[in-house]
Amino acid sequence: MDKDIIILAIETSCDETSAAVVKNGREVLSNIISSQIDIHKKFGGVVPEVASRKHLESISLVIDEALSEAGTSLREIDAVAVTCGPGLVGALLIGLSTAKAIAYSSNLPFIGVNHIEGHIAANYIEHKELEPPFTCLVASGGHSHIVNVIEYNKYEILGRTRDDAAGEAFDKIARALGLGYPGGPMIDKLAASGNSEAIGFPRAFLEEGSYDFSFSGLKSSALNYFNSKKMRGEEINSADIAASFQEAVVDVLSAKLIKAALYKKSKYAVLAGGVASNSRLRELLKYRGEQAGIQVLYPSPILCTDNAAMIGCAAYYRYISGTRSDFTLNAMPNLTLE
Ligand code: KG4
Ligand code: ZN
Repeated sequence: MDKDIIILAIETSCDETSAAVVKNGREVLSNIISSQIDIHKKFGGVVPEVASRKHLESISLVIDEALSEAGTSLREIDAVAVTCGPGLVGALLIGLSTAKAIAYSSNLPFIGVNHIEGHIAANYIEHKELEPPFTCLVASGGHSHIVNVIEYNKYEILGRTRDDAAGEAFDKIARALGLGYPGGPMIDKLAASGNSEAIGFPRAFLEEGSYDFSFSGLKSSALNYFNSKKMRGEEINSADIAASFQEAVVDVLSAKLIKAALYKKSKYAVLAGGVASNSRLRELLKYRGEQAGIQVLYPSPILCTDNAAMIGCAAYYRYISGTRSDFTLNAMPNLTLE
């Protein structure tokens, strides 16, 4: 490579304000994440208005810190990248307007990135050998997709959730159990001391050959189980509920990902998104991958959560393919991958 390409990336789609400096796509020089979780915790979930205000308060500081930790100044930056969707519109707009202002005033190329594409790209940072094609499960608070990654920046969605996202289901059950927000990490932790076979919660595999998901039946079943026990004044074993619920989710997620990877003859089955941090999902997927002769990869937890380094990585592959965004680019709360 002739010249290093250094990208300043910004991510504000939900409740983390993040800025990163990424060199040649896969080398993270800095990745600053300012989480709002403690603020939203008391409301039991993300409050969009509050998220926008907090992004506005911290974005400049986070960017300054990212540049300073990377030992770079704007003069050494080749492009400014930002998440343009999907996400909360008010939250996205803070990142977008900041990125546009920096790019415009510094006369730099500006690149809008899809948040889901960013989650997938987190794996390139962690696994230097990974290149498309591969099959990826993106499971977060807002999305559950099985994606065939054809090339960098070219995707085919094989399946998606028909109702709740996997992370959303974790969050709702955790809330019912009084575990707080975000629920996924709490359920993961509590499940470790429970029996995953204690309660036979339903698995929605849907029609033969479908890579779609549905978690609403499982969610209702878990909530009914919990509420009827409570009404009858019976003892509730939260750890068993957490473990049995988690097992039902990860059983379906991992089975469908492996099936999709086999169907696409992929060498790799890859995990991405917040739910990719789930310890049981990682364990079961590794096991099933070994059985099927497919290599399973996932990023470390800090790259599974929302962060700007993954946006910088995805942006690099757009940059080298010549893609640039226009300053009229708007926030797209429902942006899809295809
Ligand atoms: O990707 P992410 O940080 O934000 C979105 O783009 O939505 O994902 C957040 C989601 C939340 O629903 C959270 O409960 C879930 O990921 N999550 C987990 C775990 N860690 C985070 N779910 C299950 N197990 C975990 N260990
Ligand atoms: Zn995300």
